[in-house]
Amino acid sequence: MSDAAADSAHTPPGMDWEARFREGHTPWERPGLHPAFLQWRDSGAFADVKRIIIPGCGRAPELAAFAQMGLDAAGTDLSETALNYQRNKLKENNLSAVLIPGDSLAYAPDAPFDAVYEQTFLCAISPKLRGDYERAVHRWLRPGGRLFALFMQKEEPGGPPYGCSIAAMHDLFPGDRWTWPEPPYPAFPHPSLSGKPELAVILTRR
Ligand SMILES: C[S@@+](CC[C@H](N)C(=O)[O-])C[C@H]1O[C@@H](n2cnc3c(N)ncnc32)[C@H](O)[C@@H]1O
Repeated sequence: MSDAAADSAHTPPGMDWEARFREGHTPWERPGLHPAFLQWRDSGAFADVKRIIIPGCGRAPELAAFAQMGLDAAGTDLSETALNYQRNKLKENNLSAVLIPGDSLAYAPDAPFDAVYEQTFLCAISPKLRGDYERAVHRWLRPGGRLFALFMQKEEPGGPPYGCSIAAMHDLFPGDRWTWPEPPYPAFPHPSLSGKPELAVILTRR
């Protein structure tokens, strides 16, 4: 599928991600590294991760941060402007990561990943594609690999962002395919997006 076709199939009506980046209208971006990322990093949660992927990475600074930590990091995105931004940031900091253009959900890696970092991508895609997302992430990870997820909490219908309630996430990531940690899950209010909290959950692929 061409990038343009993937875009129309996977982008919610009215949402042109490439235009958002070109126009600088990106309210989902935090001012720096996500506080959950910092907690995970500083507590050693990524210690046994060698290969990690960020689907729908946009301009997220976590991609370069993983590269800085010495991980083999990969980011996928539909937006060439966002990927160019990442390319320049990596170059400026003498870092490297693999940048994969096109539809994240169609991506088929050559080798499995140890971890997936999920940050405002699942809530950005149409809820109709959530099954595709779960199957993609499960396929990418080795058994025992982990999904570091920030699940956007939002009561109102519609999106993006589309709410990712814990009940809906349990349906999407069922216990026969994923191991769930015990709640409660730490909440990180978003500085924009009306302060909606994201819940930090680490799921392990069975
Ligand atoms: C809300 S933004 C989040 C960006 C980034 N994860 C962050 O935290 O800043 C959603 C991102 O997903 C990308 N995207 C949407 N649908 C996609 C798809 N099917 N495949 C790849 N990227 C996609 C958009 O281009 C955009 O960069």
